[in-house]
Amino acid sequence: MLIVALDPPSNADVLSWVEERFKTLKQYVQGFKIGLPAIIEIGLGPLARIFRGYSGLLIADLKLADIGDVMSIVAERLAMHGFNAVIAHAFIGYEQALDKLSAVCREKGLKLILVVSMSHKGSREFIDRHVKEFVELAKSVDAWGVVAPATRPEIIRFVRELAGKELRILSPGIGVQGAEPGTAICSGADYEIVGRVITYSSNVLESAFKVLEEQRKRATQCLGLR
Ligand code: XMP
Repeated sequence: MLIVALDPPSNADVLSWVEERFKTLKQYVQGFKIGLPAIIEIGLGPLARIFRGYSGLLIADLKLADIGDVMSIVAERLAMHGFNAVIAHAFIGYEQALDKLSAVCREKGLKLILVVSMSHKGSREFIDRHVKEFVELAKSVDAWGVVAPATRPEIIRFVRELAGKELRILSPGIGVQGAEPGTAICSGADYEIVGRVITYSSNVLESAFKVLEEQRKRATQCLGLR
């Protein structure tokens, strides 16, 4: 399953860049992830107009890491503008932070996704020392899913072992960051998050099909799917 990360480059006309890619890809993928590059440039209102009526996953990737009261305000605004999922960091902890955010997400129908490890090498310096605690925290706040890196499949396997079937695993790191499509799914992820290798391509649809086909081939081999 594929989620497309829409991170427009700095020289893009952001509104049309996002809209074109959304319209081209929406019938082939399970969702989209929008982060700071688009949100700070055009704001939530114009984005909401592009995605109005979309029934797939629409993830706001703000990697929230604030006090609970402030994250709650952000979550309410995201829900008001049509997002149905939000990514927050796990390292901020439960009390006065994720306890409040998870309550607001539940009330507003937002799926809460926690970062338990990251795809870049610096994740080893601090975050990766606590993956086990972060997965436990994700379960205890009733998160919908967690983010774990396609660049380090052993972490995905570890997270899947700890999470059982309770949590969805979403894995970025395919393409530009080095992992091959399908490898995260073979390690236990539910969704692969793919950005630039699709969205910066001169033929977005063709590149998406290529990723989907590679995913399908690998998953067929490793999971015995058809
Ligand atoms: P690319 O272009 O590298 O885009 O395919 C990847 C997308 O995923 C985000 N990203 C992460 N998000 N934890 C996260 O929550 C991570 O470890 C991580 N690594 C990459 C990135 O912001 C981009 O949108």
